Amino acid sequence: MDFEFTEEQIMIRDAAREFAQRELLQDVIERDSKAEFPVKHIKALAELGFMGMIVDPKWDGGGMDTISYVLAIEEISKVDSSVSVIMSVNNSLVCFGIEKYGTEEQKEKYLRTLAKGEKIGAFLLSEPEAGSDATMQRTIAEDKGDYYLINGTKNWITNANSGSVYILIAQTYPDRKHRGINAFIVEKDTPGITLGQHEDKMGMRSSDTHSVMFTDVKVPKKNRIGKDGFGFKFAMKTLEGGRIGIASQALGIASGALERSVQYAKERKAFGTEIANHQAIAFKLSDMAVKVEAARYFCLKAAWLKDNGKPYGVASAMAKQYAADIAMEVTTEAVQIHGGYGYVKEYHVERLMREAKLTQIYEGTSEIQKIIISRALLRD
Ligand code: CAA
Repeated sequence: MDFEFTEEQIMIRDAAREFAQRELLQDVIERDSKAEFPVKHIKALAELGFMGMIVDPKWDGGGMDTISYVLAIEEISKVDSSVSVIMSVNNSLVCFGIEKYGTEEQKEKYLRTLAKGEKIGAFLLSEPEAGSDATMQRTIAEDKGDYYLINGTKNWITNANSGSVYILIAQTYPDRKHRGINAFIVEKDTPGITLGQHEDKMGMRSSDTHSVMFTDVKVPKKNRIGKDGFGFKFAMKTLEGGRIGIASQALGIASGALERSVQYAKERKAFGTEIANHQAIAFKLSDMAVKVEAARYFCLKAAWLKDNGKPYGVASAMAKQYAADIAMEVTTEAVQIHGGYGYVKEYHVERLMREAKLTQIYEGTSEIQKIIISRALLRD
């Protein structure tokens, strides 16, 4: 077992750290408060090659491994998880899905621009009545010969407005349940697509989230991903990797909160000494550090399995569940350590706490991860 990172992995981590500290930190509070999409930051991230960092260079991606991806997402999420979710959805749900399961023609047409970050992708699975229970797709993709006719509504879609390439999951044969579901690549400007209002979220406020309505939208048959009825398995396989991204995001939120808490505890004085000298605080910091380190190993293990061509679905569910849950705990303690200062925006930790909550909800709630893990345990 080798716990050393390669020189390249360290270089990528440091580049992400520098970018986050230099570019993202200065206006993150303002962006969050105005729910303003980070246009110039995403452009800069694309220039660094991070919007398609795990895509093969053959398709204009960065060709970086999943370990590097974890390291980069952690660093960015220490500062701004709105940016890291945009990056994570583009990399691991959209680019990965097309690269792994798309045709050469689909890759030529869509993957290159997505991998370069010239376009942003979105993943449209959730519906008003199909969030956790993803098999219950009500959006219909009717087979009309050389095209599909799409009708329905998708909810909680990250990058719905900023993105221009959608991966859409929809039902073609309702009687076949999940085996009748298909996945498609859909261009956002196709007639019949309309967006609901921008969701006014509690955290990650500057990533854009909308519902998306489809009314008689025609999607060419060649835009279907995989064989007829592969859509649900496609979504599940793709989410396995997506969860490594969100686990790493939760890790970054937690480690960012820990770093801020250590710093604060060394500066803030109470009862005649720095608060770090009180065991009440020092023990909190210790507990937070243990959790962050454990979450980091979960993320890196899942990434290592993926990089080495081994099954990683259960590992990514464990990473996602654990990292999200400890992100909530660690950020709550960070606010506590900061006292009144923790409750105001200037000290960042209240925002990290709001961001942590979302990691327990999207790309499968913590409870969904427990279903995946326990089913695997009981099956073996
Ligand atoms: N890989 C391949 N196939 C899989 C699979 C996997 N990881 N998991 C399930 N399947 C297959 C099963 O083999 C089964 O197929 P067969 O019947 O042909 O054998 C089929 O899928 C159905 O599986 P289950 O019976 O296990 O389905 P279920 O309904 O009991 O539960 C679930 C599955 C794991 C709970 C799933 O519904 C799930 O993951 N739900 C959460 C959805 C989710 O994560 N949504 C996030 C939205 S995306 C998002 O948030 C992005 C964003 O914008 C940030």
